[in-house]
Amino acid sequence: MASSSTESPPAPPTFGHQLRKHFLFPENYTNLNHGSFGSIPTPVLTHRQRLHILSEQHPDNFMRYHSISLLDEARAAVAKVLNAPSEEVVFVTNATTGVNVVLRNLTYEEGDVILHFGTIYGACGRTVQYIADTTDATCISIPLAYPVQDAVIISSFNTTVQEIKAAGKKPKLVIFDTVSSMPGMRFPWEKMIVAAKEAGVLSLIDGAHGVGNIKIDLEANQPDFFVSNCHKWLYTPRPAAVLYVPTRNQPLITTSIPTSHYYIPKSAAQYWSPLGPGSKSNFILQFEFNGTIDATSYLCVPAALKFRQEIGGEDAIIKYCNTLAFEGGEAVAKILGTEIMTPDPAAVDSGRCPMVNIRLPLLPIPKTEVESVYNTFTKDVGVRENTFVQVYVHNARWWVRISAQVYLEMKDFVWIAGVLKRECEKINERVANLATIAAATGEKVNVVNGADVHVEEVKSAKRAVVNGMVDLKVSDAEGGGVAVNG
Ligand SMILES: Cc1ncc(COP(=O)(O)O)c(C=O)c1O
Repeated sequence: MASSSTESPPAPPTFGHQLRKHFLFPENYTNLNHGSFGSIPTPVLTHRQRLHILSEQHPDNFMRYHSISLLDEARAAVAKVLNAPSEEVVFVTNATTGVNVVLRNLTYEEGDVILHFGTIYGACGRTVQYIADTTDATCISIPLAYPVQDAVIISSFNTTVQEIKAAGKKPKLVIFDTVSSMPGMRFPWEKMIVAAKEAGVLSLIDGAHGVGNIKIDLEANQPDFFVSNCHKWLYTPRPAAVLYVPTRNQPLITTSIPTSHYYIPKSAAQYWSPLGPGSKSNFILQFEFNGTIDATSYLCVPAALKFRQEIGGEDAIIKYCNTLAFEGGEAVAKILGTEIMTPDPAAVDSGRCPMVNIRLPLLPIPKTEVESVYNTFTKDVGVRENTFVQVYVHNARWWVRISAQVYLEMKDFVWIAGVLKRECEKINERVANLATIAAATGEKVNVVNGADVHVEEVKSAKRAVVNGMVDLKVSDAEGGGVAVNG
């Protein structure tokens, strides 16, 4: 029926605190770090609970038949959001697994080089290193110091490729993010796919912060391999990720990880399988069942998408989160008297995404204090204030990364800015005192500069702490409190 002219238009979606009731946070908890592990709305949790009950009521029917048809529906649903054919997407447990599936399936020859950027997520960087440690491939990291323009990223890649080729080697694959982790910055992944293609290099996109975070169009961009977590930004339960391998590259992926019933051995060896021959492609079959797991998180994709549609749809969610991250970040920076890590204004969406990085107004921190400062923010402040603040060092500066979400408002950004300001003042006072003591005793203060400090390095800083500028004691081997005596 045609709508009458008197009918009022649909109400615009209302984001912000009104949506908190659909999530499970206790009333006094402010979730500012959605980007690490995501969080699900109640209808998705309820849906998963129903699936759990079904799977316990009819274990064989559920595991062998029902969950397989639900998995097909979930694949089709996530493929639609990615604008990819459903025959080219499968589920894997997480982004790390997806990256491992691709890197461990490819074969490497002497002279092959894997490229990545300095901002690669640590676990993925280590996976590249593992390949270099165990095959004929080597790897090269392209350093990045933000703020950096997209054009500089692309030209750094092109220059590195030329250098590798000039040395008689073969740049085989480049791995890069859709949005990097720390800093939480939108990466020019669309342009990098083109640059890689022009250079004859395979592209593997780590879209851990991908689907639900920024608009993804795989049909338009045609990467060689793409993996995206669904549990971070799409509101599915943990763990769930989608791996896209276009049909042309599926012959390169000969096994799921772990290898299971549908692997086709090169020999004529026959093994018993509890599963039927299956009518789908071997790529789909291998990832459909590769060991008994709880796949209900994958099966929640349609429920997550339904919830997202009901609160306004993909575009409205992304727009709200991008705007809140940017405006909220600017407000925090103003209160702290610093600045946000500036995105490239010429980039897609002006380089904005639902995460924002704000510089903390900290004095140069002695290396011996790094762990203590890191713990102050990520443990003490988090526990005391019922939140979590993700801090890190990049390009010799301390930053906080804040994730915007539909249940947050500007008020939350202003609140955390006050908390951070007070904490920075306390730390600065302590550091200034330490500097005074060091000056009086003639000791050299080793401040954090140059290299980025990530969590692993913070943990290893414990050893240095013991012989530090003042008598510092590590009370807990797993990154617990650091007591400053005197
Ligand atoms: C850019 C990036 N890649 C990969 C990962 C790994 O994701 P997962 O732990 O779900 O495998 C993360 C996690 O935060 C990430 O931020």
